Amino acid sequence: MIPASPKNDPSPVTDRDGGRVPPWARSQGRGCARLEVWIVTPSRFRPLSGLLADCLGADERRRRDAFASRLLADRFTIRRAWLRQILSCRLNVAPAALAFEAEPDGKPRLATGQADDLHFNLSHSGDCAVIAVNTGAPVGVDVEAITPGLDPARLAAATLAPDELMVWRSLPPSQRPSAFLHSWTGKEAVLKAFGWPLEPHRLPGISVLWPGCDLQAAATWRVLTVARPRTGRAVVALRTVDIGSGYLAALAIPAITTFPDITIVTAAAWPRFRTDHEARNGECITVERWRPQHDVYGGRSSGA
Ligand SMILES: CC(C)(COP(=O)(O)OP(=O)(O)OC[C@H]1O[C@@H](n2cnc3c(N)ncnc32)[C@H](O)[C@@H]1OP(=O)(O)O)[C@@H](O)C(=O)NCCC(=O)NCCS
Repeated sequence: MIPASPKNDPSPVTDRDGGRVPPWARSQGRGCARLEVWIVTPSRFRPLSGLLADCLGADERRRRDAFASRLLADRFTIRRAWLRQILSCRLNVAPAALAFEAEPDGKPRLATGQADDLHFNLSHSGDCAVIAVNTGAPVGVDVEAITPGLDPARLAAATLAPDELMVWRSLPPSQRPSAFLHSWTGKEAVLKAFGWPLEPHRLPGISVLWPGCDLQAAATWRVLTVARPRTGRAVVALRTVDIGSGYLAALAIPAITTFPDITIVTAAAWPRFRTDHEARNGECITVERWRPQHDVYGGRSSGA
């Protein structure tokens, strides 16, 4: 727990899970939306990368071919193939038939008309890729490796807001790496939720640490107000997700009216591709059918 200072607490309202909720959100129902978080370990699927590449689009192939190493190219192929497969099951179209376009600052989305209320975002770090898929509202996700022995002093000075930096420096040294990682992933998830430019100089404009904030409570939704890139402020819900295996992930959803339930899915086995014939005839291999293992939380008491 970071030492409390009520005058700096951005949101005094707390929900039953310890999350921070504005009055307009408290009056709404909870758990209506559906947010899936897929954890992909690329090294598991490397032997299949040739097969998986079959579903990539021309732009994705160009990007894959520009990577400096085979390892990075394969990781890219694998996360984009999984993204296509997951969206394919939601939309009942063949993975290769999905079309993407980029928002003005680079956030990829499904091309107009395919599924306007289905949103996704992805992030990768080392041998981990996280794909968040949400209905009804945009989503941002960021994952970072938890690096043992990390001394983030220089990065903290460059990325934390002045008030965050004071809070961070007041922490015992043993808590600083974890607090920094919470801040870093949280800020990036916020940028990505809004589709703002992924530029390091924007990070100090977003405060996710404040006096009295409890890093344990970061694993429940908290509602924050953040500065927009050019002018004004925006409201965003943010939380971390424990995805295990030495990584920390953060999720952000702008201006939500309900907190979605979260399903964490570990991508453990590659499903066979559906053919165009199967897709046309509605023979969908559903997520549920080939989901190898999953944990659901958000709408129940255990887990997060
Ligand atoms: C672009 C860059 C900044 C992103 O790095 P990153 O945060 O490690 O990357 P992530 O894996 O979390 O996110 C990248 C994904 O976000 C998505 N994305 C791209 N632009 C986006 C935007 N404006 N908003 C939301 N999502 C975006 C893409 O799907 C991309 O995945 P892809 O490469 O498979 O297409 C990277 O090129 C880089 O330089 N990283 C160095 C670290 C750094 O400076 N980070 C500070 C960024 S504020």
